[in-house]
This record gives sequence, structure tokens and C-alpha cells, in this order.
Amino acid sequence: MRRDVKEFYEQYPYPQLPVKKKADLLSKLHGNVMREILETTGRGASYFSGKNVLEAGCGTGEKCVYFALHGAHVRGVDISNASLAHARKLADKFNVKVGFENADVLQMHGKEKFGYIYSLGVLHHTENPKKGFCNIAKMLKKGGIITIGLYSASGRLLHRMHRAQIALFAGKGTKERMQYVERNIYGRKLRAGVEEAYVADKYAHPYESYHTVGEVLGWFGENGIKPVGCHPKCGFGFLSRKITQMEWMAQRKTFFVMSGRRI
Ligand SMILES: C[S@@+](CC[C@H](N)C(=O)[O-])C[C@H]1O[C@@H](n2cnc3c(N)ncnc32)[C@H](O)[C@@H]1O
Repeated sequence: MRRDVKEFYEQYPYPQLPVKKKADLLSKLHGNVMREILETTGRGASYFSGKNVLEAGCGTGEKCVYFALHGAHVRGVDISNASLAHARKLADKFNVKVGFENADVLQMHGKEKFGYIYSLGVLHHTENPKKGFCNIAKMLKKGGIITIGLYSASGRLLHRMHRAQIALFAGKGTKERMQYVERNIYGRKLRAGVEEAYVADKYAHPYESYHTVGEVLGWFGENGIKPVGCHPKCGFGFLSRKITQMEWMAQRKTFFVMSGRRI
């Protein structure tokens, strides 16, 4: 399974955002998304200045460069060499130093400690998301913050049905599914780069798993991490999180982000 996922990201590095200027990263394209995600930490962008930051599963490196531009010392790891090559180019383009490295979150036993750890859209593509989480959480300093993003079991329900339908008609192969999406959803050839990467990730991924806020609270608890925030907004009490996650199903909020602080 790891091999399939690696091959997939060697072919479709993600997200390959069309970043031309610093402003695209800091305020336009990426800045708006990052603002919502980082709200879950309860800290502003100045928090990252001088911090040791680890991005686990950094893809094409936009977030690593974003943190580096905010004055962080950043290390980005990923299993895809093609993604890391994009990421290195991006860091060079903006003249920031980021330590990029090929590493698997399921094998990480690093002794190095980080003040901030960020891993969005990665763990649910591994065969053991909890193990991946525990591995990176061990590298979090006391008082440090970790942010993870996962597919929501409830929010992604309709999309899962759609994926199953595509697999039924097109088969399990990535190429066949991409061709099916081109023919039946887009009605045209997909543009190489960001569009192809987005569509592949959404419809033709070889493996994904689905998670709940309660499950992440359990992972946090086992690793001495206190929850700080969630996006979309969600209470952490039993009833409140159940109700909110039911709403995510209707609203098709397929992805959620949670941050916690090591105590
Ligand atoms: C959907 S992309 C997310 C990229 C980036 N985190 C972002 O939010 O833009 C998932 C990334 O996780 C990487 N990945 C998947 N499994 C991994 C693993 N076991 N260890 C490290 N990286 C992994 C993939 O190669 C891919 O670059």
C-alpha cells in the first residue's frame, strides 16, 4: 500500500499551487487557507518566528516555505521524491532555507524536538494513521503545538459513495479513474499541474481512511496533548462533537483540522 501511495505522489505531486509571488503564499492563494488552519492553534503568524517546525508529508512544499517566510527553521519530510523536488525549487525561488528529506512518517523515530509540527492530508493515506501520529507527536517539545488534518468519516460520506461509483465503472487503476473523470465529470482533458493534482487526489487516490474528532481526541490524550482548536469549528464534548459532525455530513465538509498543545 505504501508503494502505491508513493507511486501515486511521484506521478501527481500535490498540491503544486501556482505560486508566483510571495503575496500568493502569504496573503492570496495560500494565505487565506492558512489563516483558517492556523486559527486552530490559537496563535498568530508571529508565533512561528524562530521556532523549529516540522512538516510531516510536506508535498510540494508551500507550507514549509510559508513557515520559513515567517522566520521559522523548517524541516519538511515526504515519501515522494517528485514532490520534494518541487518543494526544493519553491524554497530556492523565495530564497529560504528548508531542510527537505525523504522520510516515512511510519518509520520516524527522530530524537530532534520541534516547537511546532504540522501534518495535513497525510496520515489518512498511511496504513496506520495512529502510529504515524504517535511517531511525530513524540518529536513535539513540551508546550509545543501540533496541527493535523484528516478526512472526516461523516463529512466525506457522500464523496466516498461517489468514489465507489467511479471505482465501479472505471476500475481501481489511477489512470483509468483519471480518464473516467475527464470523460464524465470534466468533459475535457485536465490541465497538467494543480488541476491534475487536485483531481487525482480527490477521485483517483489508491488509499484513504476516514476519521472522527473523538478519535483524534483519543490520540491527543494518549500522547499528553491538550486540544486547542478545530476547523471547521467543533466542540470537544461528546454530544456537541457528534451533532457538529452530523452537520458536516450535510454540509459536505470533507476535511477537518485539529491542533493541540503538549502539556
Ligand atoms: C495530500 S498531500 C498533502 C501535502 C501537504 N501536506 C499539503 O497540505 O499541501 C499528502 C502528502 O503526504 C505524503 N505522504 C503519504 N504517505 C506518507 C508517509 N507515509 N510518510 C511521509 N509522507 C507521506 C505524500 O507523498 C504527499 O506528498
